[in-house]
Amino acid sequence: MSDLLWQKPGVTVDAQIQRFLAGDDVVLDREFFLHDITASTAHAQGLQRVGILSGDELVGLERELAALADDFRAGAFVLDERFEDGHSAIEARLTERLGDAGRKIHTGRSRNDQVLVATRLWLKEKLARVAALSRDTAKVALDRAAAERGLPIPGYTHVQRAVVSSAGMWWAGWAEAFIDDAVRANDTLALVDCNPLGTAAGYGVNLALDRDHTTAALGFARMQVSPVYAQLSRGKFELAALEALGSATLDLRRIAWDLSLFTSAEFGFVALPPQYTTGSSIMPNKRNPDVIELMRATHASVAAARTEIEQLLSLPSGYHRDLQASKGAIFHGFGRGLAALELLPALLANLEWREDRLRAAIDAGMYATDVAVEAAIAGVPFREAYRAAAAASDTAAQGRTPEASLAARTSPGAAADLRLDALQARWEAL
Ligand code: ARG
Repeated sequence: MSDLLWQKPGVTVDAQIQRFLAGDDVVLDREFFLHDITASTAHAQGLQRVGILSGDELVGLERELAALADDFRAGAFVLDERFEDGHSAIEARLTERLGDAGRKIHTGRSRNDQVLVATRLWLKEKLARVAALSRDTAKVALDRAAAERGLPIPGYTHVQRAVVSSAGMWWAGWAEAFIDDAVRANDTLALVDCNPLGTAAGYGVNLALDRDHTTAALGFARMQVSPVYAQLSRGKFELAALEALGSATLDLRRIAWDLSLFTSAEFGFVALPPQYTTGSSIMPNKRNPDVIELMRATHASVAAARTEIEQLLSLPSGYHRDLQASKGAIFHGFGRGLAALELLPALLANLEWREDRLRAAIDAGMYATDVAVEAAIAGVPFREAYRAAAAASDTAAQGRTPEASLAARTSPGAAADLRLDALQARWEAL
């Protein structure tokens, strides 16, 4: 391992204890190593602006940081156990290449604000992706709602047939859900979008760092003001980000559940393109909807990551090494969550309804609520109308069609008017 930044003369480092301290930390740091390099570049520029670095030193640092990023991307520089963590690796490489300029890079910063700034930069990208994918999913749902508003499907409560619904109603529900998820991701992005760099170990530093410069150079919307809160917010903003992701994966879990039911032979409402199914190793007859099932499983990983971080946050104020364990949780949660959300828009765009099966599943009882409400409109007290409709549901249903039932509830101006224009306006504002 390269020299530990904090090593004291005469104190031996025990290898087993070092391995425990390091855990998988350096490998995890690969995930946001490029963000750490970006922030290091902004920090170096700030140091030059306050006279710690000469112009030449800054030029050298900028060049070597860019070269490190290129080497890392190309696999020519591997971030591994030779280093305690990604932060030390950057300083080691700069020192090796530049000597004193490398030894100056850590002036006025701590790994405590370094890890915070890298995490915030990384999460901003991931939240933007959650917002974009939720938006894309909502768009597919909106378009299909408009195209399929007249296609009747059974509406369920308790997984029991309830009333006539439509593919349009089903899609419009998911459109509104994923619009909310995009809003949530964008709102959370705004919360995360502040710069902790310059807060050092959590108490500031006796050097007039140019925090306005680093804030602007890194594209943050604002500066995180209190050094104490910069540390207190670690874990908390990751938790907020996972909650925003979880809002989308929770909807993903529910739509996957619908599709898992709808693709079964018992329902038979939906045909999935074959690329979304797999076979069985023993049962030659099987086509299994594994993609849908793993999509449904995704929320468990997001929820687990949230729980892990929440448990970690049982801490007094200030930095604690416990906080390091939050990285694995967000990387795992976002890795799983985004991989599933990435597949969702195309999956939804490719679903095919089986109209014959949908129509066959609409039975006479599903008009009973219409019958009762019509009688109530004609002046019969609703409870009386309800009892009469229950007693005569088969006869009362005669001559009724799914189309008429839908029109009475979902046509323009009716109570469940799909209002796709309103949803479209919210979608466009995302
Ligand atoms: N790997 C550490 C983390 O993620 C970096 C910060 C180390 N700071 C320290 N004071 N030991 O928290």
